[in-house]
Amino acid sequence: MKNWDVFGIFLVVRLISVVFVQTFFVPDEYWQSLEVAHNISFGYGYLTWEWKAGIRSYIYPLIFSALYTILKLIQLDDPIFLIYGPRLLQAILSAYADLCFYRWSGTRKWAVFSIATSWFWYYMGSRTLINSFETALSTIALSQFPWLGKEKDESLKFIWIVAAVSVIRPTAAILWLPLCFYHLFITKYKKSSLIISRYIPIALIILSLSVLLDSLAHGSFIVTPYEFLKFNVLKDVGSWYGSQPWFWYLSVGFPAVLGIHFLPFVLATLVIIKNRASHPNELVLLSSIVFSLTIYSFLPHKEFRFLLPLLPIALYVSSRFLSAWSRKANTWRLWSVALILFLGNLGPAYYLGYVHQRGTLDVMEPLREIASRNPNSSSFLFLMPCHSTPLFSHLHVNVSARFLTCEPNFNNSDNSYTDEADQFYNNPNIWLRKNYPPNGTQPSHIICFDVLKPVISDIMSRYKTTHEIPHSSFATARVGYNVLINERMGN
Ligand SMILES: *[C@@H]1O[C@H](CO)[C@@H](O)[C@H](O)[C@H]1NC(C)=O
Repeated sequence: MKNWDVFGIFLVVRLISVVFVQTFFVPDEYWQSLEVAHNISFGYGYLTWEWKAGIRSYIYPLIFSALYTILKLIQLDDPIFLIYGPRLLQAILSAYADLCFYRWSGTRKWAVFSIATSWFWYYMGSRTLINSFETALSTIALSQFPWLGKEKDESLKFIWIVAAVSVIRPTAAILWLPLCFYHLFITKYKKSSLIISRYIPIALIILSLSVLLDSLAHGSFIVTPYEFLKFNVLKDVGSWYGSQPWFWYLSVGFPAVLGIHFLPFVLATLVIIKNRASHPNELVLLSSIVFSLTIYSFLPHKEFRFLLPLLPIALYVSSRFLSAWSRKANTWRLWSVALILFLGNLGPAYYLGYVHQRGTLDVMEPLREIASRNPNSSSFLFLMPCHSTPLFSHLHVNVSARFLTCEPNFNNSDNSYTDEADQFYNNPNIWLRKNYPPNGTQPSHIICFDVLKPVISDIMSRYKTTHEIPHSSFATARVGYNVLINERMGN
């Protein structure tokens, strides 16, 4: 492999993020990957409705399950390895994607700088989130793409990767649709034969492989991309998880994800639009961003992480602009711009990666100790919004645990449906008396946010708070400043 030195830089940055990104971002990081892998390898692990309905590809969890099974066989299935091993794998893949990004951008210093300093990629690059995996694969495919002006022979390897990301994550196809059209437009091959002899067969091979793997893991025949579309398009399950106005990606999502790199990106966009004729590739990349943002904006449920695959594309555009600018700039300006970009990313990277929302991860360590001390007599009740913490992937003890669920309403006709978490928060004490009558068995430990404790003072009179773990500097009705572990008295 060439460029070992550059790969070394990327690897160091991603490894730093494995160690220093210690905050909770979204439940899927655990519940849609590690928890499933833990279930496959160790026989226990909570499967959310997505896995019962079969709407997710098993490929990503299977990678971690392979690691878990190896660790189990060599008797190294220590929770620390189970927690950090998968993140390490994802971080190495992300570093490799960074290297591909560097080559794709024509081995420029500003490409290294932009991708290595991007706060959101630092925040996401070592998380076991399907979006991080998708973005890494997509970036590798971008670097293989036969861009105009590339000297090498037209390589078609990228089609394999694009087909793979699209079956793993069907929404990835949105980003690649304009790029594949562009490919058909600039190819040296005959268009019809390219479609018939490459695109269609590759798609069919990848789809068959994924159906095979998914069906084996699921235990019955299943086509996960089809089930995914069925649930999201026909049943509109996504909007159950919140909806934002149509302009949210433009006004909040995209600028936040780019962070301070948004400024050079905007300037680069202006330059490209002004000199359209000399930037065909960049123009297509920009259209692909616009196309994706447009489609995403129509979908009611919006999240920052859905924009992650667009980040390398935006950084490609902005880093090429910075390279062109830096050839004329003097040293003083060069270093000032670099310093501003660096510090502008350092702030969110540190605060969001290390400080904000870390309590729900930190709490797993004392819980793990409690559970391994008394695996049979411990029972955990999480009175928090659903999936606020990881579970068995971080405990690695088959302890009894209950949390409030928040499954969407699969029965469209029932308009009065409220999920368990809402039922609980509508009246916590009624819910508790119904599910945990005072004369029945009580959980040995209740895990909740500090804002809830005074509300459930009834049951809390029988518990004492043993741990108070800082979580956030902001509180809402359901999420507080600290995470509490409360132990039943007279244990
Ligand atoms: C884990 O615990 C549950 C409930 O006690 C039990 O049904 C299950 O068989 C256990 N699984 C393993 C692999 O020990």
